[in-house]
Amino acid sequence: MDKIKIHGGKVLEGEIFISGAKNAALPLICASLLTDETVTLTNMPMLSDIKAMNNLLEQLGTKIDDFDDFADNHPAKTYSYRTKVATSLVAPYDYVRKMRASYYVLGPLLARYGKCELSLPGGCAIGARPMDIHLSALEQMGANIEIKNGYIHADAKGRLKGAHIIFPGVSVGATCNVLMAAVLAEGRTVLENAAKEPEIGDLANMLNAMGAKIEGIGTAVLTIDGVDKLYGTRHKVIADRIEAGSYAVAAAITRGKIELINALPSTLRRPLQVLKDMGVKVTETERGILVDAKNCKLVGKDIMTEPFPGFPTDLQAQFLALMLTADGAAMVTETIFENRFMHVPELLRMGANINVHGHASAIVRGVGKLSGAQVMATDLRASFALVLAGLVAEGETVVNRVYHLDRGYEKLEEKLRAVGADIQRIKEDDE
Ligand code: UD1
Repeated sequence: MDKIKIHGGKVLEGEIFISGAKNAALPLICASLLTDETVTLTNMPMLSDIKAMNNLLEQLGTKIDDFDDFADNHPAKTYSYRTKVATSLVAPYDYVRKMRASYYVLGPLLARYGKCELSLPGGCAIGARPMDIHLSALEQMGANIEIKNGYIHADAKGRLKGAHIIFPGVSVGATCNVLMAAVLAEGRTVLENAAKEPEIGDLANMLNAMGAKIEGIGTAVLTIDGVDKLYGTRHKVIADRIEAGSYAVAAAITRGKIELINALPSTLRRPLQVLKDMGVKVTETERGILVDAKNCKLVGKDIMTEPFPGFPTDLQAQFLALMLTADGAAMVTETIFENRFMHVPELLRMGANINVHGHASAIVRGVGKLSGAQVMATDLRASFALVLAGLVAEGETVVNRVYHLDRGYEKLEEKLRAVGADIQRIKEDDE
Protein backbone atom coordinates (compact mmCIF):
# COMPACT_ATOMS: atom_id res chain seq x y z
CA MET A 1 0.00 0.00 0.00
CA ASP A 2 1.24 3.51 -0.83
CA LYS A 3 2.43 5.81 1.95
CA ILE A 4 2.92 9.56 2.27
CA LYS A 5 6.21 10.81 3.66
CA ILE A 6 6.45 14.38 5.00
CA HIS A 7 9.32 16.40 6.43
CA GLY A 8 7.67 19.01 8.62
CA GLY A 9 8.57 22.61 9.30
CA LYS A 10 7.94 24.34 5.97
CA VAL A 11 5.82 27.50 5.86
CA LEU A 12 3.28 26.99 3.06
CA GLU A 13 2.78 29.87 0.68
CA GLY A 14 1.06 30.27 -2.69
CA GLU A 15 -2.23 29.20 -4.20
CA ILE A 16 -4.18 25.97 -4.35
CA PHE A 17 -6.93 25.26 -6.86
CA ILE A 18 -9.99 23.74 -5.17
CA SER A 19 -11.51 20.78 -7.04
CA GLY A 20 -15.15 19.92 -7.60
CA ALA A 21 -16.90 18.54 -4.51
CA LYS A 22 -16.84 14.77 -4.04
CA ASN A 23 -19.98 14.83 -1.90
CA ALA A 24 -21.84 16.79 -4.60
CA ALA A 25 -20.53 14.70 -7.49
CA LEU A 26 -21.62 11.35 -6.00
CA PRO A 27 -25.39 12.08 -5.86
CA LEU A 28 -25.18 14.04 -9.15
CA ILE A 29 -23.81 10.93 -10.88
CA CYS A 30 -26.73 8.90 -9.51
CA ALA A 31 -29.25 11.55 -10.57
CA SER A 32 -28.27 10.72 -14.17
CA LEU A 33 -30.14 7.42 -13.66
CA LEU A 34 -33.40 9.41 -13.62
CA THR A 35 -33.37 10.12 -17.36
CA ASP A 36 -32.73 8.25 -20.63
CA GLU A 37 -30.89 11.31 -21.96
CA THR A 38 -27.26 12.32 -21.42
CA VAL A 39 -26.19 14.10 -18.23
CA THR A 40 -22.78 15.75 -18.49
CA LEU A 41 -20.91 16.73 -15.34
CA THR A 42 -18.00 19.15 -15.56
CA ASN A 43 -15.44 20.13 -12.90
CA MET A 44 -15.41 16.53 -11.66
CA PRO A 45 -12.67 15.64 -9.19
CA MET A 46 -10.39 12.72 -10.08
CA LEU A 47 -10.90 10.54 -7.01
CA SER A 48 -11.18 6.85 -6.27
CA ASP A 49 -14.74 7.34 -4.91
CA ILE A 50 -15.81 8.79 -8.28
CA LYS A 51 -14.26 5.81 -10.09
CA ALA A 52 -16.07 3.46 -7.70
CA MET A 53 -19.42 5.16 -8.38
CA ASN A 54 -18.77 5.07 -12.13
CA ASN A 55 -18.06 1.32 -11.90
CA LEU A 56 -21.36 0.79 -10.11
CA LEU A 57 -23.31 2.75 -12.74
CA GLU A 58 -21.64 0.82 -15.55
CA GLN A 59 -22.76 -2.37 -13.85
CA LEU A 60 -26.35 -0.98 -13.90
CA GLY A 61 -26.12 -0.33 -17.66
CA THR A 62 -24.97 3.31 -17.84
CA LYS A 63 -22.70 4.30 -20.71
CA ILE A 64 -20.00 6.66 -19.45
CA ASP A 65 -17.62 8.80 -21.48
CA ASP A 66 -14.87 10.89 -19.97
CA PHE A 67 -12.97 13.87 -21.33
CA ASP A 68 -9.99 15.81 -20.07
CA ASP A 69 -11.18 19.35 -19.68
CA PHE A 70 -10.33 22.68 -18.14
CA ALA A 71 -12.28 24.35 -15.35
CA ASP A 72 -11.10 27.94 -14.87
CA ASN A 73 -7.76 27.15 -16.51
CA HIS A 74 -7.13 24.11 -14.34
CA PRO A 75 -7.27 20.53 -15.57
CA ALA A 76 -10.46 18.77 -14.54
CA LYS A 77 -12.53 15.86 -15.77
CA THR A 78 -15.82 15.96 -17.57
CA TYR A 79 -17.95 12.81 -17.53
CA SER A 80 -21.10 12.14 -19.49
CA TYR A 81 -23.61 9.54 -18.33
CA ARG A 82 -26.36 7.94 -20.37
CA THR A 83 -28.69 5.26 -19.05
CA LYS A 84 -31.02 4.50 -21.95
CA VAL A 85 -32.43 1.73 -19.87
CA ALA A 86 -30.97 0.12 -16.76
CA THR A 87 -29.89 -3.45 -17.41
CA SER A 88 -29.72 -4.27 -13.69
CA LEU A 89 -31.54 -2.88 -10.67
CA VAL A 90 -29.16 -4.44 -8.14
CA ALA A 91 -26.35 -2.64 -6.30
CA PRO A 92 -24.24 -5.60 -5.15
CA TYR A 93 -22.39 -6.03 -1.87
CA ASP A 94 -18.93 -5.64 -3.40
CA TYR A 95 -19.70 -2.14 -4.65
CA VAL A 96 -21.59 -0.88 -1.60
CA ARG A 97 -18.97 -2.34 0.76
CA LYS A 98 -16.28 -0.23 -0.93
CA MET A 99 -18.28 2.97 -0.88
CA ARG A 100 -21.28 3.76 1.32
CA ALA A 101 -22.52 6.49 -1.02
CA SER A 102 -23.52 3.68 -3.42
CA TYR A 103 -26.84 3.95 -1.60
CA TYR A 104 -27.62 6.97 -3.79
CA VAL A 105 -28.77 4.62 -6.58
CA LEU A 106 -31.77 3.58 -4.45
CA GLY A 107 -33.90 6.73 -4.83
CA PRO A 108 -33.37 7.15 -8.60
CA LEU A 109 -33.86 3.47 -9.52
CA LEU A 110 -36.97 3.19 -7.39
CA ALA A 111 -38.36 6.39 -8.94
CA ARG A 112 -37.69 5.43 -12.58
CA TYR A 113 -38.18 1.65 -12.48
CA GLY A 114 -40.23 1.09 -9.31
CA LYS A 115 -37.69 -1.42 -7.98
CA CYS A 116 -34.19 -1.64 -6.54
CA GLU A 117 -32.08 -4.10 -4.58
CA LEU A 118 -29.26 -2.58 -2.58
CA SER A 119 -26.78 -4.32 -0.33
CA LEU A 120 -27.09 -2.85 3.19
CA PRO A 121 -24.01 -0.66 3.73
CA GLY A 122 -23.41 -1.60 7.39
CA GLY A 123 -21.25 0.44 9.75
CA CYS A 124 -17.91 2.09 9.15
CA ALA A 125 -14.98 3.44 11.12
CA ILE A 126 -16.85 6.54 12.31
CA GLY A 127 -20.02 4.83 13.53
CA ALA A 128 -23.05 2.65 12.87
CA ARG A 129 -24.51 4.82 10.06
CA PRO A 130 -27.93 3.19 9.58
CA MET A 131 -30.33 3.87 6.66
CA ASP A 132 -33.58 3.89 8.64
CA ILE A 133 -34.38 7.53 7.75
CA HIS A 134 -34.00 6.86 4.00
CA LEU A 135 -36.10 3.70 4.15
CA SER A 136 -38.92 5.04 6.30
CA ALA A 137 -39.35 8.03 3.93
CA LEU A 138 -39.47 5.76 0.88
CA GLU A 139 -42.07 3.58 2.65
CA GLN A 140 -44.17 6.69 3.26
CA MET A 141 -44.01 7.22 -0.52
CA GLY A 142 -45.55 3.79 -1.07
CA ALA A 143 -42.48 1.57 -1.44
CA ASN A 144 -42.54 -1.86 0.13
CA ILE A 145 -39.19 -2.45 1.81
CA GLU A 146 -37.87 -5.80 2.96
CA ILE A 147 -34.44 -6.69 4.29
CA LYS A 148 -33.34 -10.17 3.19
CA ASN A 149 -29.88 -11.74 3.07
CA GLY A 150 -28.16 -8.43 3.75
CA TYR A 151 -30.01 -6.67 0.94
CA ILE A 152 -32.70 -4.00 0.91
CA HIS A 153 -35.44 -5.09 -1.50
CA ALA A 154 -37.48 -2.02 -2.42
CA ASP A 155 -40.57 -2.30 -4.59
CA ALA A 156 -42.95 0.57 -5.37
CA LYS A 157 -45.36 -1.60 -7.43
CA GLY A 158 -45.33 1.07 -10.11
CA ARG A 159 -44.82 4.76 -9.42
CA LEU A 160 -43.92 6.26 -6.03
CA LYS A 161 -46.55 8.57 -4.50
CA GLY A 162 -45.85 12.03 -3.14
CA ALA A 163 -46.02 12.29 0.66
CA HIS A 164 -45.50 14.74 3.51
CA ILE A 165 -42.35 13.51 5.23
CA ILE A 166 -40.91 14.88 8.45
CA PHE A 167 -37.39 13.53 8.82
CA PRO A 168 -36.78 12.47 12.46
CA GLY A 169 -33.12 13.57 12.22
CA VAL A 170 -31.10 15.70 9.80
CA SER A 171 -29.50 13.40 7.23
CA VAL A 172 -27.61 14.50 4.11
CA GLY A 173 -27.87 11.06 2.51
CA ALA A 174 -31.59 10.61 3.21
CA THR A 175 -32.40 14.12 1.95
CA CYS A 176 -30.58 13.49 -1.37
CA ASN A 177 -31.98 9.99 -1.82
CA VAL A 178 -35.59 10.94 -1.11
CA LEU A 179 -35.30 14.12 -3.18
CA MET A 180 -34.18 12.01 -6.17
CA ALA A 181 -37.09 9.64 -5.54
CA ALA A 182 -39.64 12.46 -5.26
CA VAL A 183 -38.86 14.24 -8.54
CA LEU A 184 -40.52 11.44 -10.57
CA ALA A 185 -43.20 10.51 -7.99
CA GLU A 186 -46.89 11.06 -8.56
CA GLY A 187 -48.03 14.32 -6.93
CA ARG A 188 -46.45 16.58 -4.34
CA THR A 189 -43.81 15.61 -1.77
CA VAL A 190 -42.88 17.86 1.13
CA LEU A 191 -39.64 17.13 2.99
CA GLU A 192 -39.45 18.76 6.42
CA ASN A 193 -36.29 18.89 8.53
CA ALA A 194 -34.28 18.39 5.33
CA ALA A 195 -30.50 18.81 5.45
CA LYS A 196 -29.31 22.14 4.02
CA GLU A 197 -25.76 21.25 2.96
CA PRO A 198 -24.61 23.09 -0.21
CA GLU A 199 -24.18 19.74 -2.00
CA ILE A 200 -27.96 19.22 -1.68
CA GLY A 201 -28.54 22.63 -3.26
CA ASP A 202 -26.24 21.63 -6.12
CA LEU A 203 -28.23 18.42 -6.64
CA ALA A 204 -31.60 20.22 -6.49
CA ASN A 205 -30.42 22.86 -8.99
CA MET A 206 -29.31 20.19 -11.44
CA LEU A 207 -32.58 18.26 -11.01
CA ASN A 208 -34.53 21.45 -11.79
CA ALA A 209 -32.38 21.97 -14.91
CA MET A 210 -33.41 18.41 -15.89
CA GLY A 211 -37.08 19.41 -15.62
CA ALA A 212 -37.84 18.71 -11.95
CA LYS A 213 -39.99 21.07 -9.87
CA ILE A 214 -38.26 21.64 -6.54
CA GLU A 215 -38.86 24.66 -4.33
CA GLY A 216 -37.26 25.72 -1.06
CA ILE A 217 -33.68 24.95 -2.16
CA GLY A 218 -31.24 25.81 0.64
CA THR A 219 -33.96 25.65 3.33
CA ALA A 220 -35.13 22.88 5.68
CA VAL A 221 -38.42 22.44 3.79
CA LEU A 222 -38.26 21.15 0.22
CA THR A 223 -41.43 21.00 -1.85
CA ILE A 224 -41.30 18.76 -4.90
CA ASP A 225 -44.02 18.43 -7.54
CA GLY A 226 -43.41 15.14 -9.33
CA VAL A 227 -43.04 15.18 -13.13
CA ASP A 228 -43.47 12.36 -15.69
CA LYS A 229 -40.09 12.68 -17.32
CA LEU A 230 -36.67 14.27 -16.83
CA TYR A 231 -34.21 15.36 -19.53
CA GLY A 232 -30.47 15.55 -20.07
CA THR A 233 -28.38 18.50 -18.92
CA ARG A 234 -24.83 19.81 -18.50
CA HIS A 235 -23.86 20.81 -14.98
CA LYS A 236 -20.75 22.16 -13.27
CA VAL A 237 -20.05 20.58 -9.87
CA ILE A 238 -19.61 23.12 -7.05
CA ALA A 239 -16.22 23.58 -5.37
CA ASP A 240 -15.36 21.22 -2.54
CA ARG A 241 -15.84 23.10 0.74
CA ILE A 242 -14.18 20.35 2.76
CA GLU A 243 -11.08 20.32 0.56
CA ALA A 244 -10.99 24.14 0.79
CA GLY A 245 -11.38 24.03 4.59
CA SER A 246 -8.65 21.40 4.84
CA TYR A 247 -6.14 23.54 2.91
CA ALA A 248 -7.21 26.62 4.90
CA VAL A 249 -6.02 24.68 7.97
CA ALA A 250 -2.78 23.76 6.13
CA ALA A 251 -2.09 27.49 5.75
CA ALA A 252 -2.99 28.20 9.38
CA ILE A 253 -1.10 25.28 10.95
CA THR A 254 2.16 26.15 9.13
CA ARG A 255 1.62 29.89 9.79
CA GLY A 256 1.66 30.33 6.04
CA LYS A 257 -0.47 32.13 3.47
CA ILE A 258 -2.54 30.33 0.82
CA GLU A 259 -5.15 31.61 -1.61
CA LEU A 260 -7.82 28.96 -2.17
CA ILE A 261 -8.77 29.46 -5.80
CA ASN A 262 -12.46 28.84 -6.57
CA ALA A 263 -13.38 28.19 -2.91
CA LEU A 264 -16.88 29.39 -2.04
CA PRO A 265 -16.94 31.51 1.16
CA SER A 266 -20.72 31.08 1.54
CA THR A 267 -20.22 27.32 2.06
CA LEU A 268 -17.58 27.80 4.78
CA ARG A 269 -18.88 30.58 7.04
CA ARG A 270 -18.50 28.75 10.39
CA PRO A 271 -15.04 27.26 9.87
CA LEU A 272 -13.72 30.57 8.48
CA GLN A 273 -15.15 32.37 11.51
CA VAL A 274 -13.33 29.92 13.81
CA LEU A 275 -10.06 30.66 11.98
CA LYS A 276 -10.65 34.40 12.41
CA ASP A 277 -11.50 33.95 16.11
CA MET A 278 -8.24 32.04 16.52
CA GLY A 279 -6.29 34.98 15.06
CA VAL A 280 -5.92 34.04 11.36
CA LYS A 281 -6.51 36.70 8.71
CA VAL A 282 -9.18 35.47 6.29
CA THR A 283 -10.31 37.56 3.32
CA GLU A 284 -12.59 36.94 0.38
CA THR A 285 -10.81 37.61 -2.89
CA GLU A 286 -12.00 37.80 -6.48
CA ARG A 287 -10.77 34.27 -7.06
CA GLY A 288 -11.69 32.64 -3.75
CA ILE A 289 -10.44 32.91 -0.17
CA LEU A 290 -7.09 34.11 1.17
CA VAL A 291 -5.95 32.54 4.44
CA ASP A 292 -3.02 34.38 5.99
CA ALA A 293 -1.50 33.18 9.25
CA LYS A 294 1.98 34.64 8.74
CA ASN A 295 3.45 35.89 12.02
CA CYS A 296 0.11 35.19 13.72
CA LYS A 297 -0.17 33.95 17.28
CA LEU A 298 -3.15 31.62 17.39
CA VAL A 299 -5.40 30.90 20.37
CA GLY A 300 -7.47 27.73 20.82
CA LYS A 301 -11.24 28.01 20.23
CA ASP A 302 -14.00 25.55 21.06
CA ILE A 303 -15.78 23.91 18.14
CA MET A 304 -18.92 21.79 17.96
CA THR A 305 -19.98 19.91 14.84
CA GLU A 306 -23.53 20.45 13.60
CA PRO A 307 -25.51 20.08 10.37
CA PHE A 308 -24.97 22.92 7.85
CA PRO A 309 -24.69 25.88 8.35
CA GLY A 310 -23.00 24.73 11.57
CA PHE A 311 -19.41 23.53 11.81
CA PRO A 312 -18.96 20.48 9.50
CA THR A 313 -18.04 17.14 11.04
CA ASP A 314 -15.83 16.56 7.98
CA LEU A 315 -13.51 19.36 9.19
CA GLN A 316 -13.43 18.35 12.86
CA ALA A 317 -10.24 16.26 12.68
CA GLN A 318 -8.33 18.94 10.75
CA PHE A 319 -9.31 21.73 13.19
CA LEU A 320 -8.49 19.49 16.14
CA ALA A 321 -4.96 19.14 14.73
CA LEU A 322 -4.77 22.93 14.34
CA MET A 323 -5.73 23.49 18.00
CA LEU A 324 -2.58 21.57 18.99
CA THR A 325 -0.49 24.43 17.61
CA ALA A 326 -2.51 27.22 19.29
CA ASP A 327 -2.15 28.73 22.75
CA GLY A 328 -4.46 27.46 25.47
CA ALA A 329 -7.08 24.74 25.43
CA ALA A 330 -10.01 24.07 23.13
CA MET A 331 -13.00 21.78 23.52
CA VAL A 332 -13.90 19.85 20.39
CA THR A 333 -17.42 18.38 20.47
CA GLU A 334 -18.66 15.88 17.89
CA THR A 335 -22.45 15.65 17.62
CA ILE A 336 -22.94 13.98 14.22
CA PHE A 337 -21.04 10.69 14.43
CA GLU A 338 -20.56 8.45 17.45
CA ASN A 339 -16.96 7.41 16.87
CA ARG A 340 -15.08 10.22 15.23
CA PHE A 341 -11.96 10.67 17.36
CA MET A 342 -10.00 7.83 15.84
CA HIS A 343 -7.25 10.28 14.82
CA VAL A 344 -6.56 11.11 18.48
CA PRO A 345 -4.46 8.04 19.43
CA GLU A 346 -2.28 8.61 16.35
CA LEU A 347 -1.82 12.33 17.18
CA LEU A 348 -0.86 11.32 20.75
CA ARG A 349 1.98 9.31 19.21
CA MET A 350 3.22 12.59 17.70
CA GLY A 351 3.32 14.33 21.07
CA ALA A 352 -0.21 15.78 21.22
CA ASN A 353 -2.01 16.59 24.47
CA ILE A 354 -5.64 15.52 24.02
CA ASN A 355 -8.13 14.06 26.49
CA VAL A 356 -11.18 12.40 24.99
CA HIS A 357 -14.29 12.33 27.19
CA GLY A 358 -16.74 9.60 26.21
CA HIS A 359 -17.50 9.58 22.49
CA ALA A 360 -18.52 13.18 22.14
CA SER A 361 -15.83 15.56 23.27
CA ALA A 362 -12.11 16.12 23.48
CA ILE A 363 -10.02 18.71 25.28
CA VAL A 364 -7.11 19.72 23.11
CA ARG A 365 -4.21 21.60 24.67
CA GLY A 366 -1.71 23.54 22.63
CA VAL A 367 1.74 21.91 22.69
CA GLY A 368 4.99 23.66 21.78
CA LYS A 369 5.87 21.11 19.14
CA LEU A 370 4.86 17.82 17.55
CA SER A 371 7.33 15.17 16.50
CA GLY A 372 7.23 13.07 13.35
CA ALA A 373 6.14 9.42 13.59
CA GLN A 374 4.70 6.51 11.61
CA VAL A 375 0.91 6.94 11.74
CA MET A 376 -2.19 5.52 10.14
CA ALA A 377 -5.81 6.57 10.03
CA THR A 378 -9.11 4.83 9.74
CA ASP A 379 -10.96 7.36 7.62
CA LEU A 380 -10.54 10.04 5.01
CA ARG A 381 -10.65 13.26 7.05
CA ALA A 382 -8.66 11.79 9.94
CA SER A 383 -5.93 10.92 7.44
CA PHE A 384 -5.74 14.54 6.35
CA ALA A 385 -5.44 15.61 10.01
CA LEU A 386 -2.35 13.40 10.26
CA VAL A 387 -0.90 15.00 7.12
CA LEU A 388 -1.48 18.41 8.74
CA ALA A 389 0.27 17.31 11.92
CA GLY A 390 3.13 15.98 9.76
CA LEU A 391 3.48 19.38 8.06
CA VAL A 392 4.42 21.02 11.39
CA ALA A 393 6.07 18.11 13.18
CA GLU A 394 9.81 17.98 13.69
CA GLY A 395 11.41 15.34 11.50
CA GLU A 396 9.75 12.74 9.32
CA THR A 397 6.12 11.63 9.42
CA VAL A 398 4.92 8.64 7.39
CA VAL A 399 1.15 8.38 6.89
CA ASN A 400 0.04 4.86 6.05
CA ARG A 401 -3.19 3.73 4.36
CA VAL A 402 -3.07 6.47 1.76
CA TYR A 403 -6.07 4.95 -0.03
CA HIS A 404 -8.26 6.88 2.43
CA LEU A 405 -6.80 10.17 1.18
CA ASP A 406 -7.19 9.12 -2.47
CA ARG A 407 -10.94 8.82 -1.87
CA GLY A 408 -11.32 12.54 -1.22
CA TYR A 409 -8.24 14.67 -1.97
CA GLU A 410 -7.36 15.11 -5.63
CA LYS A 411 -3.59 15.40 -6.31
CA LEU A 412 -2.87 15.94 -2.62
CA GLU A 413 0.94 15.76 -2.75
CA GLU A 414 1.09 17.84 -5.94
CA LYS A 415 -1.09 20.59 -4.45
CA LEU A 416 0.86 20.70 -1.17
CA ARG A 417 4.26 20.55 -2.90
CA ALA A 418 3.29 23.51 -5.08
CA VAL A 419 2.93 25.67 -1.93
CA GLY A 420 6.24 24.51 -0.49
CA ALA A 421 5.57 21.32 1.46
CA ASP A 422 8.21 18.60 1.57
CA ILE A 423 5.88 15.71 0.85
CA GLN A 424 6.08 12.65 -1.34
CA ARG A 425 4.24 9.45 -2.05
CA ILE A 426 6.11 6.21 -1.60
CA LYS A 427 4.63 3.74 -4.04
CA GLU A 428 4.29 0.22 -2.76
CA ASP A 429 6.65 -0.92 -5.51
CA ASP A 430 9.35 1.54 -4.34
CA GLU A 431 9.70 -0.19 -0.99
C1 UD1 B 1 -22.71 12.73 4.44
C2 UD1 B 1 -21.34 12.93 3.86
C3 UD1 B 1 -20.28 12.82 4.97
C4 UD1 B 1 -20.60 13.78 6.11
C5 UD1 B 1 -22.05 13.59 6.59
C6 UD1 B 1 -22.49 14.61 7.63
C7 UD1 B 1 -21.49 12.14 1.59
C8 UD1 B 1 -21.15 11.10 0.59
N1 UD1 B 1 -21.10 11.94 2.86
O1 UD1 B 1 -22.75 11.41 4.96
O2 UD1 B 1 -19.01 13.13 4.40
O3 UD1 B 1 -19.74 13.51 7.19
O4 UD1 B 1 -22.96 13.69 5.47
O5 UD1 B 1 -22.33 15.90 7.13
O6 UD1 B 1 -22.07 13.17 1.25
N2 UD1 B 1 -28.40 8.63 10.29
C9 UD1 B 1 -29.32 7.75 10.83
N3 UD1 B 1 -30.19 7.12 9.96
C10 UD1 B 1 -30.17 7.34 8.62
C11 UD1 B 1 -29.22 8.25 8.09
C12 UD1 B 1 -28.35 8.88 8.96
O7 UD1 B 1 -29.36 7.53 12.03
O8 UD1 B 1 -30.99 6.74 7.90
C13 UD1 B 1 -27.43 9.30 11.21
C14 UD1 B 1 -25.98 8.95 10.90
O9 UD1 B 1 -25.60 7.74 11.52
C15 UD1 B 1 -25.26 10.14 11.44
C16 UD1 B 1 -26.21 11.29 11.16
O10 UD1 B 1 -27.50 10.70 10.97
O11 UD1 B 1 -25.07 10.01 12.82
C17 UD1 B 1 -25.87 12.13 9.94
O12 UD1 B 1 -25.68 11.27 8.83
P1 UD1 B 1 -25.91 11.73 7.31
O13 UD1 B 1 -26.13 13.20 7.27
O14 UD1 B 1 -26.92 10.85 6.72
O15 UD1 B 1 -24.48 11.42 6.69
P2 UD1 B 1 -24.17 10.74 5.31
O16 UD1 B 1 -25.15 11.18 4.29
O17 UD1 B 1 -23.92 9.29 5.49
